Order: sequence, then structure tokens, then C-alpha cells
Amino acid sequence: MTEAAFTPRVFSGIQPSGNLHLGNYLGALKRFAEAQDKGLETLYCMVDLHAVTVWQDPAALRHATRELAAGFIASGLDPARSILFNQSQVAEHTQMAWVFNCVTRMGWMQRMTQFKDKAGKNAQNASLGLFAYPALMAADILTYHATHVPVGEDQKQHLELTRDIAMKFNHDYGVDFFPVPEPVIEGTATRVMSLRDGASKMSKSDPSDMSRINLTDDADTIAKKIRKAKTDPAPLPSEIVGLADRPEARNLVNIYAALTDQSVDQVLRECGAMPFSAFKPRLADLAVEKLAPISAEMARLMQDVAEIDRILADGARRARALAAPILRQTYDIMGMVGAREV
Ligand code: AMP
Ligand code: TRP
Repeated sequence: MTEAAFTPRVFSGIQPSGNLHLGNYLGALKRFAEAQDKGLETLYCMVDLHAVTVWQDPAALRHATRELAAGFIASGLDPARSILFNQSQVAEHTQMAWVFNCVTRMGWMQRMTQFKDKAGKNAQNASLGLFAYPALMAADILTYHATHVPVGEDQKQHLELTRDIAMKFNHDYGVDFFPVPEPVIEGTATRVMSLRDGASKMSKSDPSDMSRINLTDDADTIAKKIRKAKTDPAPLPSEIVGLADRPEARNLVNIYAALTDQSVDQVLRECGAMPFSAFKPRLADLAVEKLAPISAEMARLMQDVAEIDRILADGARRARALAAPILRQTYDIMGMVGAREV
């Protein structure tokens, strides 16, 4: 298949499961906005159907979906230039997911590390939806013929599976119908680590709130969390090799680099040999400068939930206009009667 056959189209999604954090911002949201600002066609989705693969309290889900939409907009996504929508409002995602359930092999799913992590020891008690999660994710992407998918490092395996699904469908039906999408995992913050433990990733499910900076944190809380972040006693090195076995130091430098759009080398040229007693206040000021306006804007947007719902309804309408013909063509390729327009 020639890549040129498909016009570039960017798709990504985030689960509305609460606690949007700095990792989501640097690894995903900030880069979503950059793709939009480059003038690319961009679709971004609140993946509520993915969120309910584990238990979600209905009121909390409703709140988290709207808050995530506010987070997208506060991070620079413009509902006029990007299509912002909620997954369950576009039924084509679940319809396409069924098709991909039938393309995907059990063995492929069984290799997914996120399922193993999330299901934990008691996999027999995990939902069937959690197991099938990556087929729905492939449907999110391929129902739009998206070609580029910006995500954090943790989604790499799911995107490889999406590519396998696209290729298997094309091969089985002898068509060049689905593009094989490219993961876009770039920059210094593709894996932001916990502020309490440089070996585990910053995550919304970490029981310690001190481990992450939430996008809803106010300036004092952001500064306090950075001040208390775990570090080692040595000052910052002046070269990148000096960070090799210092995961906590590396993480703070990566965050600084990502927030200032610099490389790690540039940060070390500026801050090399600085003790943490000097670097942390500098990072705290920077984080407050960049993040406090986002949290303030989210709070402002959340005061008008009706407006958020209107934006999501408009996004869903525009998303459906793209998704419906692709689903119909998929059904037609598969031999389903009634799929072809008469
Ligand atoms: P999730 O919150 O799991 O739905 O993830 C939403 C997006 O944020 C995905 O693109 C993830 O790869 C990204 N992401 C989540 N946690 C991190 C992290 N600690 N560092 C960088 N990116 C992350
Ligand atoms: N699985 C992703 C995560 O947990 C969220 C997601 C769902 C997604 N559908 C997607 C990301 C499609 C990119 C494209 O972070």
C-alpha cells in the first residue's frame, strides 16, 4: 500500500477517568495542540467506552468526561479547528469494534501488557471489555482512516496491534482499504514518571496524590509537589550521560525540557551543576507559569457545562459524517447486504 493514498489525518483519545495529570498534558494534550496548530486535520476523543471497561460511577464519569473536554480546550485545542467529541456519541466506533473483534486473534490480545497490568492477578474476574479494549481502540483510529496517532510511550503496543488489525483486514479481504497508522511518540516527555518514584510512570490511578501534578491543582499545590519530589543528593550533571542511573533527576529534567520546548542537552547547559535546592524552585515557577492558566481555564469552562455539551454534540456530528461512510464501505467489503447505498 502506498502511504500517499491516504491524506494525513490525526486521531487520539484519552479516557475520562479523572485526574488528568502532567503526563497526559506533556505526553498527549500539548502534542495534540501542536498537531492542530500545524494545520493538520485533527480528531480528539474522550473515550468513555474505554473508561467503562473498569467500574465507573455514573455521576463521576459524567463529570470526568466534561472535565476532560475542558482540559482539551484549556490545553489549546480549538473545537472549530479540531473535532472534539465523546466516543459513545458516535455509534460507529462500537460497530467497527465488532468487526475488529472478528479480525483480532485471541493470541494477539493475550500479549497485551496493559491488560495484564490492569487485570492483575485475578484476570478471570476482569471484564470481557477490558480484554477487547485494543480492538475498540483500533476502531477509534481506523473508522476515520487516521494516519497518525500521537500518544505516550505506554500506548505503543496497542498501536502495533492496530497496525496488525489494519493489515490483516486488508490482507483477508484483498483490499487496500485501511491505512496502517503511524504512532507518533516523540519528545522528551513520552513517559513522565511519578514524583515519588522514578521507576513508575505518573498515573491517574496512583493512590498517592503527591506522585502526580493534576491539571486541576492550584499554584500552591503544584509548587509544593515539586518541592517535595523525590531526588538524590547530587547536583544536576552538565551532560546527559550523568543522568543515566538517576531516574528521579532525569524525570525532573525531562519535565523542564518539555515545558520549555528544549532538549535535555539545552536544559543541562542552562542548569548543569545546580543543586536541587536551586533547580526545584525554578522548575516549580515554570510549572506554575505553564499549568496554572490551564487549571484556571478548566475551572472557568466547567462553570458552563451546557456549553461543553454543545461542543461535544457538534464534534460528534462532524465525527459521524466522516465515520459513517467508512463503516458502510467496510460492511460492503465484508459482504453485508444493505451496506451499499442504493
Ligand atoms: P490515559 O490517561 O491512560 O487515557 O492516557 C491518555 C494519554 O496520555 C495517552 O496518550 C498516554 O500515552 C498519555 N500518558 C498517560 N500517562 C503518561 C505519562 N506518565 N507520561 C506520558 N504520557 C502519558
Ligand atoms: N488506550 C488509550 C489510553 O489508555 C486511549 C485511547 C483510546 C486512544 N482510543 C485511542 C489513544 C485511539 C489513541 C488513539 O491512553
